[in-house]
Amino acid sequence: MSMSFHDFNFETILRDHWQKAPLLIRNPWQAWRNPLEPDELAGLACEDGVEARLIMQGRKTWKVEHGPFPESRFGKSGKTPWTLLVQAVDHHVAQVAALIKPFRFVPNWRMDDVMVSYATDGGGVGPHFDQYDVFLIQGLGKRRWQVGAQCDSATELLPHDDLRLLANFEVAEEWILEPGDILYVPPRVAHNGVAVGDDCMTYSIGFRSPSRSELIAHWCDHLLADMQDDDRYEDRYSGQDFFRQDNPGEISGVALDGLYAMIREKMLDRDAFARWFGQYTSTPKYPETDWRAEETARPEELRGFLAGSVPLRRNPASRFSFVRRGENSVLLFVDGECFECGRDTAALAERICAADRVLIDPDRENSDAVMALLAKLLDQGSVAFEPDEV
Ligand code: SIN
Ligand code: CO
Repeated sequence: MSMSFHDFNFETILRDHWQKAPLLIRNPWQAWRNPLEPDELAGLACEDGVEARLIMQGRKTWKVEHGPFPESRFGKSGKTPWTLLVQAVDHHVAQVAALIKPFRFVPNWRMDDVMVSYATDGGGVGPHFDQYDVFLIQGLGKRRWQVGAQCDSATELLPHDDLRLLANFEVAEEWILEPGDILYVPPRVAHNGVAVGDDCMTYSIGFRSPSRSELIAHWCDHLLADMQDDDRYEDRYSGQDFFRQDNPGEISGVALDGLYAMIREKMLDRDAFARWFGQYTSTPKYPETDWRAEETARPEELRGFLAGSVPLRRNPASRFSFVRRGENSVLLFVDGECFECGRDTAALAERICAADRVLIDPDRENSDAVMALLAKLLDQGSVAFEPDEV
């Protein structure tokens, strides 16, 4: 199944719509085919380690149930409209992961995962807003999407323990999406999708962006983990004679400079920050998709895969990014681990970050450093050698 777009230009989206305004894209796929059957989605919602929610829509209230669900659950959903939402389906179904391909213009560290919803006639999750950009791909059946105003933390919500539903939703625009159609919704724009007819499936290509408070909190936690109690302010830090000041009540400017420098030295160390951020942002959200091999691969075994042109594949649940340091030098981040890559491994590291399937040249990329990197990535289950399906 071809999952690329025909004649579609993302430059226009980036210039006019990305993080600015909703955009409806009428079926841009070369040939659209719904990549997952409704009962396969229901099957995933019954599995341990898969995050799934069922939202039932009463006349006045919305009820949320959390998975995993017993298999019998979906036969008993009655006449009230309902929606099943399953998170990170791309980690389990290769055809769903393939949907991400056209959206790879967004850097890996900003990608989240693909949530899939299934709804019966009239089903939906109610008017709400999300903190992130989303591309909503209509997979099967039809859905009416309405978009409204830009919201913020002051926007009034209905009281609910599990859902953040808008107290007021004014429709600015609406469309009926058919299979293959895509709606882009920027962060915090109110939206509401309601199934028109049964068997409505929507694929949400989700992104992420850290909040300032999350960044500061986690960066500080990381710094604190390494700090010792005897690393303290000393009077020599103020750069002047001990306690030479007229008024003992004053916290002098020079003392403040010394204190502030203690903070700055640690918190504003950009190299340390880059190393931490790469590890932080590449830590997987759902580490359940376990590809770890039982035994560590031996170099001759690895060289055998290369000689046989067996492609290296990324685990769809794994996260890959790199930071460039200089010529032929990158820090590779995979699933929360940092790998220093130099002359032999930097180009390979970049290629692994760029594509989920990589062919390694057995004549050029056969050094011990390459074998050591591959062995570590295989060991931690982030990649595997797997032949192409025929
Ligand atoms: C859905 O697929 O029903 C909800 C997706 C969303 O609104 O973010
Ligand atoms: Co939403």
